Amino acid sequence: MAPCDSSPIIVTPDGSRTAHSARFGETYGSRHGAFSQARHVFVEGTRTQQHPAPRVLEIGFGLGVNFRATLADAATRGAALEYVAYEFDPAPAPLLREVAAGEAGSDHPLWQALLQNWPHTPLQLESGNVRLTVHFADVLEATLPQGWATGLYLDGFSPTRNPEVWTPPFAARLAQALAPGGVLATYSAAGHVRRALEAAGLQVERRPGAPGKRECLRAVRAPDQLREP
Ligand SMILES: C[S@@+](CC[C@H](N)C(=O)[O-])C[C@H]1O[C@@H](n2cnc3c(N)ncnc32)[C@H](O)[C@@H]1O
Repeated sequence: MAPCDSSPIIVTPDGSRTAHSARFGETYGSRHGAFSQARHVFVEGTRTQQHPAPRVLEIGFGLGVNFRATLADAATRGAALEYVAYEFDPAPAPLLREVAAGEAGSDHPLWQALLQNWPHTPLQLESGNVRLTVHFADVLEATLPQGWATGLYLDGFSPTRNPEVWTPPFAARLAQALAPGGVLATYSAAGHVRRALEAAGLQVERRPGAPGKRECLRAVRAPDQLREP
């Protein structure tokens, strides 16, 4: 469904919302089901829903749909969650609010605090056993945590529109950010993305995609693959 002239918001077939980015010329999440994509590709793709205390690193916080999907899952299970995200072009808070209205995770105190504080730098919030840090910075210039993430959501805009976050050197940096046994997930199944992740030493698996996509990728850092950065 195309965005209407006055609003970038798009209602997707699963009832969740996404929005169109004028800067990148594409939508933040899948037009075929924004929340379904977040849950299937990123939460389940990294097996975060099975982890007792996940530590998630996200490349591209965007509208926070992946974060809310992860938050809702952790809250339901009572699991502790640490979430660190990078975002160099924060969307306006009213857009985040409107996209999230009535959706999973939107009633959590941490999401409400996020809306109050967005986008003050650095955004560091804590509520119960959930901690969120959003760095409003270009991830290409950031010092990433080393050997830390149990789940890594690679969710920049597409390789065609935003090629810098899909290169082999950046994939190698992402691999170093994963804890041993950590899992990176992305919606792209492009051959060059798969090869970049493999060249970084990750074990790459093609999985069925979210609605509208045939395949997506999961890339695992084997426990014995931990190398000095
Ligand atoms: C596809 S959207 C992410 C959607 C988001 N994960 C969600 O759940 O709503 C991609 C996001 O990555 C951000 N981004 C792209 N390249 C980046 C970079 N080099 N550093 C930081 N953020 C970046 C964009 O500004 C955009 O918000």
